[in-house]
Amino acid sequence: MGKDVIIACDFNSKQEVLNFLDKFEDRKPFVKIGMELFYAEGPAIVKEIKARGHKVFLDLKLHDIPNTVKSAMAVLSNLDVDMCNIHASGTIPMMEAAIEGLTRQDGTRPLLIAVTQLTSTSEERMKADLLINEPIDKVVMHYAKNTKTAGLDGVVCSPLESQTVHNACGKDFYTVTPGIRFADGDVGDQSRITTPEKAKQLGSDYIVVGRPITRADDPVAAYNRCINEFVD
Ligand code: C5P
Repeated sequence: MGKDVIIACDFNSKQEVLNFLDKFEDRKPFVKIGMELFYAEGPAIVKEIKARGHKVFLDLKLHDIPNTVKSAMAVLSNLDVDMCNIHASGTIPMMEAAIEGLTRQDGTRPLLIAVTQLTSTSEERMKADLLINEPIDKVVMHYAKNTKTAGLDGVVCSPLESQTVHNACGKDFYTVTPGIRFADGDVGDQSRITTPEKAKQLGSDYIVVGRPITRADDPVAAYNRCINEFVD
């Protein structure tokens, strides 16, 4: 795997997401299912989208005691997702337990990546609320290294951090990067954004693109544009 465009399907009903995916006809983009859709429709929506032939990144960001995360991961692994994620702040033992739970009897498992510090957390909040007094860049990189140590496959990060993460954790350690906008598109609520083309230059392995595709007048054309800029 690697170098693909993942569409963030942030819809809250099965009807909406399937209507959206129907537009792609025989193409089968890699799809991200987040908490909103999963909590609305349950595991059945994952099975249905997988049965239609899509790869699925299940973005549920687990964070609990190691034993609970391990058991939950075994359930997600049975759903046959292709990628899922946890919070690196759950610490290395939690991440190791997640890998254990995810690994099937035949030794295969979905890709597992970690969220370092959420991009919504500012350095000020991290200091005041979490009592973490290091600079946020250092914290993010430390969490990325912990993720690698625990045996995970990569992290979610800004495309602007891809290179530093690869330098610290190796080029085979995946960077999965949201915050993508077309050069001529709406920024919306994202900050620190880049275009698909720039993300490619910066070394992102997967880009996660939501509204620039889901809210486009022609979502298929917008997806093709991402593929052209990022993959081809
Ligand atoms: O619509 P947009 O392209 O901004 O969607 C980006 C997707 O990536 C959303 O599903 C959002 O929740 C997710 N995401 C993000 N920033 C992070 C982690 C996840 O935008 N740091």
